[in-house]
Amino acid sequence: MASLTVRQLDEALKQQLRLRAARNGRSVEDEIRNILRSAAAEVEATAPMVAAAAEAKASAPARHPDVSVNRVLLIVGGGIAAYKSLDLIRRLKERGLSVRCILTKAAEHFVTPLAAGALVGERIFTDLFDPRTEFDVGHVRLARETDLIVAAPATADLVAKLAGGHADDLATAVLLATTAKILLAPAMNPRMWANKATQRNIAQLAADGFVFVGPNEGEMAEAGERGRGRMAEPLEITAAVEKLLGANQVRPLKGRRVLVTSGPTHEPIDPVRYIANRSSGKQGHAIAAAAARAGAEVTLVSGPVSLPDPPEVKTIHVESARDMLAAVEAALPVDIGIFAAAVADWRVAGEAQQKIKKRAGAATPELSLVENPDILSTIAHRKAQRPRLVIGFAAETENVVAHAKEKLAKKGCDWILANDVSPETGIMGGDMNTIQLVRDSGVESWPPQSKEDVAAMLIERIAQQMAAE
Ligand code: CTP
Repeated sequence: MASLTVRQLDEALKQQLRLRAARNGRSVEDEIRNILRSAAAEVEATAPMVAAAAEAKASAPARHPDVSVNRVLLIVGGGIAAYKSLDLIRRLKERGLSVRCILTKAAEHFVTPLAAGALVGERIFTDLFDPRTEFDVGHVRLARETDLIVAAPATADLVAKLAGGHADDLATAVLLATTAKILLAPAMNPRMWANKATQRNIAQLAADGFVFVGPNEGEMAEAGERGRGRMAEPLEITAAVEKLLGANQVRPLKGRRVLVTSGPTHEPIDPVRYIANRSSGKQGHAIAAAAARAGAEVTLVSGPVSLPDPPEVKTIHVESARDMLAAVEAALPVDIGIFAAAVADWRVAGEAQQKIKKRAGAATPELSLVENPDILSTIAHRKAQRPRLVIGFAAETENVVAHAKEKLAKKGCDWILANDVSPETGIMGGDMNTIQLVRDSGVESWPPQSKEDVAAMLIERIAQQMAAE
């Protein structure tokens, strides 16, 4: 390493270094060595995190160019209602839509690119003159690679710029360059909404073919303010999006039959007692709902859970592993089988027909267990009526990918979604999940996300696979 020289540093910096060195009782050279040492240690400490993040990003494929799902570009303007845009992203993704997001400069005062990016599952676009965006995706591609643009909240300023045909930032440049339909969800103070200039702009945009949802009447964020100007609720905006996509809404699994198992099984000890596990059924139910939204005809075979039956899904309720297997076999043939249930591996041998009683002086009852049928393996190894795509889960507490690979081979399924269910992850029974998709072609690490988002991502992968076949 070259010897240290401070000659190229400007006077102010040299002065700061001298002061710092004097304060710490070191020579200037020692002070600089010390600064460099701690910087190096910091790089060392963060390197694995940076590498892991880069790896996760590289292995999470760019989602938007996928044409088997509808693509929505959400533009978030700078108003207090921007906080609702995070919920809007979730609602849009719940419907199997692929979402990209632009934040205007003003929106960044209300929502961070990090928060929006975590929900979208890819980076957020903010700047027209960001060289990375322009080389990588570019405003013209953002404008082209979408089926619909939603501006929510559409502020008075954004509305005015659109009416005037301005293009001085990424959001307005994209809005001017697109041929996709545009839905605006205005949100502003009632007096700004009622202002003649705003009304003139709104009339102009309506005449130009822009579609509006809201604004609604009600309380404003400013204390004591009421009137028309509240942004429509995320669910209203989502309904307007679906209506606009209408007949063009891609239903990538239309005409496919999908079977999903979900929840725990209860294995009876006697008529009142059973062995169970902590599965909530949230992941399996979310997958069944997402498959139905993607147009599939879905049968859900569910163990005992406290969730409502998903809409548009034929749900069959079972208790034990043997009941679940019988219901699964009765649901065949299907194109795709997804086995998300946490099936009990064992049941009690010789289930008591009457409640087992405590008797004074009698020995504590001993439970002897026998192995349950493996539903996933049974279906995957069928000669007749094997689904074209058989997908299992691997609930692991260590060596997640290695164990998942073993399960993929042993159970004869096509894909495994592996997750770490150690108690500290909170996955079992919780709302979030972190998946590694294990296939013969390799392992894909998905970011930590809600179980709904995992379901949407899985349906996307399945749709891609079906389209490729
Ligand atoms: N599975 C099943 N029937 C069983 C046990 C498991 O269909 N009797 C399915 C689950 O739905 C899941 C996959 O097999 O898709 C793996 O389940 P998991 O609990 O991770 O593995 P096990 O087979 O139970 O193996 P182990 O407990 O040894 O990890």
